[in-house]
Amino acid sequence: MSASRRNIVLTGFMGTGKSAVGREVARRLGRPFVDMDEVIVQRAGMSIADIFRQHGEGTFRRYERALCEELGRQEGLVIATGGGALVDPYNRELMAANGYLICLDCEVEELIRRLEGDDSRPMLWDEDPRKRLVELYRARRSAYVEVPYHLDTTSRPLEEIVTEVIGLVQAEPVVHRVLTPLGNYPIYLIPGGLAHLGALLHARDVGANVVLVTDEHVWPLYGKTLLESLRRSRFAPTEIILPAGERFKTLDSVRFLYDRFVEAGLDRSAAVIALGGGVITDMAGFAAATFMRGVPFVPVPTTLLGMVDASIGGKVAVDHPKGKNLIGAFVQPLLVMLDPQTLETLPELERRAGLAEVIKAGIIADRELFERLEAGVDGSDLAWMVQRAIAVKIAVVEEDPYEQGRRAVLNLGHTFAHAFEVLADYQLHHGLAVSMGLAAAAHLAEIRGLCSVQTRERIISTLKGHRLPTSYDSYPPSAVYQAMFADKKRRGTRLRFVLPKEIGEIVIDSEVREDQVYAALERIRS
Ligand SMILES: NC(=O)c1ccc[n+]([C@@H]2O[C@H](COP(=O)([O-])OP(=O)(O)OC[C@H]3O[C@@H](n4cnc5c(N)ncnc54)[C@H](O)[C@@H]3O)[C@@H](O)[C@H]2O)c1
Ligand SMILES: [Zn+2]
Repeated sequence: MSASRRNIVLTGFMGTGKSAVGREVARRLGRPFVDMDEVIVQRAGMSIADIFRQHGEGTFRRYERALCEELGRQEGLVIATGGGALVDPYNRELMAANGYLICLDCEVEELIRRLEGDDSRPMLWDEDPRKRLVELYRARRSAYVEVPYHLDTTSRPLEEIVTEVIGLVQAEPVVHRVLTPLGNYPIYLIPGGLAHLGALLHARDVGANVVLVTDEHVWPLYGKTLLESLRRSRFAPTEIILPAGERFKTLDSVRFLYDRFVEAGLDRSAAVIALGGGVITDMAGFAAATFMRGVPFVPVPTTLLGMVDASIGGKVAVDHPKGKNLIGAFVQPLLVMLDPQTLETLPELERRAGLAEVIKAGIIADRELFERLEAGVDGSDLAWMVQRAIAVKIAVVEEDPYEQGRRAVLNLGHTFAHAFEVLADYQLHHGLAVSMGLAAAAHLAEIRGLCSVQTRERIISTLKGHRLPTSYDSYPPSAVYQAMFADKKRRGTRLRFVLPKEIGEIVIDSEVREDQVYAALERIRS
């Protein structure tokens, strides 16, 4: 279904304004509005209070469930649910299949004020309604966290909330859930998503003392938006701005981060938010994974490579003088936020280099993605491409979270690429090295009889089409071959190559002979 026909489903605690906001969103979008409680009242011919009194809560929940089944099949609606309707995972699933689920949140103190003296709400019938409300609020939060999108309504006028709901759905947000052995976490892809981060973290009960780690290039571009979002949700963020560049991805920088974490009063109740490219998310992620044995980590990648690669899969690391990424950890983020609008300021070289990894993802497992890249890309395609590329990586990572086997397929082109990087003393951009590596892998696959000439040509011409390098001139093949053994990913003495079979399908080949590697390298030597 097209995103614009999906239902908009507002949920949240009683008193958060679901009906009022929903009615106004519907009016402004010219869509029908459904208030679930009203529909139930109409059909039952009695008030909700009477349903509870005469038939009990169970009957009311059955009505709700039946109505969710019905509404989940329709489209183009704005729906306000009852406060308890989406606590049931079955109902959430029904409504999510075809709608954007948005939870309106509000501080409990404000809810108490809003609901004071309202005795039409059976869930609050109690000797001490205030105590009951606080209990119910706590009990439901764990279910509301499962609702993908959140807006904070505390002390905000209706108009502003309505505008934010409309902005959010018009951005066509996407959320992927990544399953790991330790549970699952969401990856959000939301154009304009930086502004939503505060509400999402607040919904997860993250403590106020969050730190925001970023670099000197990204801070002036996006720091303010993110800080505002955090402050609006009553966080007290401390920003830590590091110099930009791989050469700062060191333990010295991590030590500096620890010192600042201590000063900021960071503890496990709060979180480290990393706003920047792969260097920042790797480094801040490693610091987060180790500080106090692990504080929650929230990567917000702002480069294409960061979005499709570095921030997906839970690996974080810093460099050692003897090698890249030698000191690291696996970490499960609290959530990942990708805001493709941040790519608009990305330097041209970074963008192209990131596209090499997107092309790689297409060759590995997504023919349609590759074909779009083959046809050329404009800016508006980028969010879609990010989404498809991360889907490829997520699928692989879910099968092999700790990199014991299957994850090797992500190394397509990388055995060559790492060798080029080593020989260039890491002065060659990784993405450009990957492009050269993909070209070499395509030739090797053809030499090995695994792929056709046409497939090899398509790969190379797509790389060229994006002005990515497909040849090298500096070193003899023997030097490249030697350098391949410096790659920590080799197994035993035999090199294993991930090679394309056709677009969207790869094989792992451990039978490659040395002369075949040389032949492939000769072919791309200019
Ligand atoms: N953990 C993993 O699984 C994994 C995977 C791949 C790569 N990595 C790591 O990622 C790093 C490379 O990441 P990268 O390519 O993002 O480089 P990077 O972090 O150095 O960013 C590239 C440059 O772009 C700037 N920048 C970032 N976002 C910007 C924006 N939106 N607008 C303008 N400028 C912006 C940065 O300040 C920097 O100067 C390497 O250290 C690599 O080891 C890690
Ligand atoms: Zn890579």
